[in-house]
Amino acid sequence: MARKNSKNTASSANNWQNHVITDPGSIVAERYRTLRTNIEFSSRDHEIRSILVASSAPGEGKTTTAANLAVVYAQTGRNTLFLDCDLRSPTGQRAFNVPNGAGMTNILTGKNTASQVVQKVEAIPHLYVITSGPVPPNPAELLGSANMAEIMQTLYGIFDIIIIDSPPVLTVTDAQVISRYVDGVLVVARSKKTDKRALLKARKLLEQVRANIIGSVMNSIEAEESDYYYSYYYAEE
Ligand SMILES: Nc1ncnc2c1ncn2[C@@H]1O[C@H](COP(=O)(O)OP(=O)(O)OP(=O)(O)O)[C@@H](O)[C@H]1O
Ligand SMILES: [Mg+2]
Repeated sequence: MARKNSKNTASSANNWQNHVITDPGSIVAERYRTLRTNIEFSSRDHEIRSILVASSAPGEGKTTTAANLAVVYAQTGRNTLFLDCDLRSPTGQRAFNVPNGAGMTNILTGKNTASQVVQKVEAIPHLYVITSGPVPPNPAELLGSANMAEIMQTLYGIFDIIIIDSPPVLTVTDAQVISRYVDGVLVVARSKKTDKRALLKARKLLEQVRANIIGSVMNSIEAEESDYYYSYYYAEE
């Protein structure tokens, strides 16, 4: 379960990392738009403005799914925030090729306000990022503090949609803690890789804290077939 330590710097590569789709005409972009539409239709009674993207284990596609979902929400003209709450092994900065200087940790510790650390993603209108900031010694404690509720209220005042990235559910409690502050949780599984028992256990842990699981995403990584990848969405009963 070792997770790579990512450096808190922007990728020097011109290409965005984590397979974030910037071309709205691509097949993959269409898949993520379908995911967005399904989320919207499955929750017509109550508007979903914040979504936590979670999964049982590392490397299943949480960041990729969260980043692409944020892109397709922004493309509807709604001001969208990608909020990196994977404070332990953050990669949001790489997904959008922005620096990870000050971020969520700084807001949680009261050193900065959200407006001070938010970054605009220049290539995508209406898309904003708050990176994780420096890795703190006590992520779960910070995320569970009273500050978090206040921060979310502030963010709702600024953004229409908030998509949150998180660490694996089975590794640490952070995603369970964050689930309290969001309208819905998407559970990502990686096809041919995610262990079914691990997936069920992760869902159980989220249900135990009364998370509103709004659907599952099957992330298929088929590099040998093509450069494209696909996400399938299953709405909850
Ligand atoms: N559908 C996909 N097709 C191709 N590559 C993918 C796909 N989904 C994810 N990847 C790649 O797989 C790796 C892991 O994906 P990602 O970082 O999104 O997973 P994660 O669940 O956020 O991992 P972690 O728990 O370590 O944060 C990344 O290098 C990403 O670019
Ligand atoms: Mg990730």
